[in-house]
Amino acid sequence: MTKISLPFNSPLLTKDFVYGVATASFQIEGGYEHRLPCIWDTFCSTAGKIADNSHGHIACDHYNNWQQDIDLIESLGVDAYRLSISWPRVMTQDGKLNPVGVKFYTDILDELKRKNIKAFVTLYHWDLPQHLEDEGGWLNRKTAYAFEQYVELITNAFGTRVYSYATLNEPFCSAFLGYEIGIHAPGLVGKQYGKKAAHHLLLAHGLAMNVLNKTSPNTQNGIVLNFTPAYPLTDNQQDIDSAKYADDYLNQWYMKPIMDGKYPDIINQLPSDHLPDIHPGDMELISQSVDYLGINFYTRQVYKAHPTDIYEPIAPTGPLTDMGWEIYPQSFTDLLVSLNKTYTLPPIYITENGAAMPDTYNNGEVNDLDRLSYYNTHLNAVHNAVEQGVTIHGYFAWSLMDNFEWAEGYLKRFGIVYIDYKTQQRTIKNSGLAYKELISKR
Ligand code: NOJ
Repeated sequence: MTKISLPFNSPLLTKDFVYGVATASFQIEGGYEHRLPCIWDTFCSTAGKIADNSHGHIACDHYNNWQQDIDLIESLGVDAYRLSISWPRVMTQDGKLNPVGVKFYTDILDELKRKNIKAFVTLYHWDLPQHLEDEGGWLNRKTAYAFEQYVELITNAFGTRVYSYATLNEPFCSAFLGYEIGIHAPGLVGKQYGKKAAHHLLLAHGLAMNVLNKTSPNTQNGIVLNFTPAYPLTDNQQDIDSAKYADDYLNQWYMKPIMDGKYPDIINQLPSDHLPDIHPGDMELISQSVDYLGINFYTRQVYKAHPTDIYEPIAPTGPLTDMGWEIYPQSFTDLLVSLNKTYTLPPIYITENGAAMPDTYNNGEVNDLDRLSYYNTHLNAVHNAVEQGVTIHGYFAWSLMDNFEWAEGYLKRFGIVYIDYKTQQRTIKNSGLAYKELISKR
């Protein structure tokens, strides 16, 4: 297969369906010496945390190559570019804007405007300034207020340049991976931390929404959540209960407070020292309305009951990506349809979807048919969800280009553009060419 093909009358083939590509600051920018250190710098310099012992000092050197990269984005014909702002680049340690960092982004945003590409700006994609972590990071309620101040200053500086803001990207990853199982920065381990960090992140979202309503009333303001739908291994009631618990603990924990203003009922089963510190008014702030919800989807997870623990994830057996994640597009449709049944949803953007694959660069070409097929089946899964009544306004490929894949370093490649890290040469992969063709034939 060399094409992405959708049913000829698909709503995904109309011009008002937004197609984009996505990146995040720490994963692509480099330009390390022009910003404050962040928790990922510290994590990378801790032995054994990153698979290839790499760091984000240079990454794709987007800091120096951004003009070329925006030309590349333009050449793909996309309607939108989702990027994130590095908090430690635009703020000084004493809480003021750093003009050099601000200019880096305003130049990018101006260039996107000139090229008529909508800017979808994520305000927090995991690069917390290290000095805030030194004060407790997301375990400290004050971090949410520091975020509020940063958002106020930076969104005022950006003025009308931005089409859409997301307060946070995947708070699950920040809280659970970063503060509960420790495989992401800052690397804390303990169930007494995860839900506390999660609450302060959600509070930061709520405070930032208040700011955005004031500073940026004409942008589309929302949040980006990731979902890994949970399936029971058998129809045995214990397996069903385990999958439901896992879904509440890992997925709905972030969704339900935003949509319904409460945590899932399993909160009543948690030991008191695992509980978040909820102040009066917090849940109202967290659940105020958003203009849209961003959904990131990659894979599903199957669970079975465990004799002593609450759930046990089963190692996937199906076709896998290079991350070892199961390729199961039906669960993407199932997820979207089930969220639409469970909640009163705002319009949805698929803010990330894509796959790491073991690419080979050959004579100027990367013939990534596996990734192309992933995009084909997953875009069709989105089409099926729209057919079943879910309101979806757009889709972003993760990622524009290969980049620093967190704990996996540079070993995993998610790009539709190939990066040669020695020369910083960019080559559009065949999946990227197919994406471009899909977009152009609308
Ligand atoms: C989610 C994250 O937002 C992004 O930073 C990451 O690279 C992709 N998923 C792939 O793991």
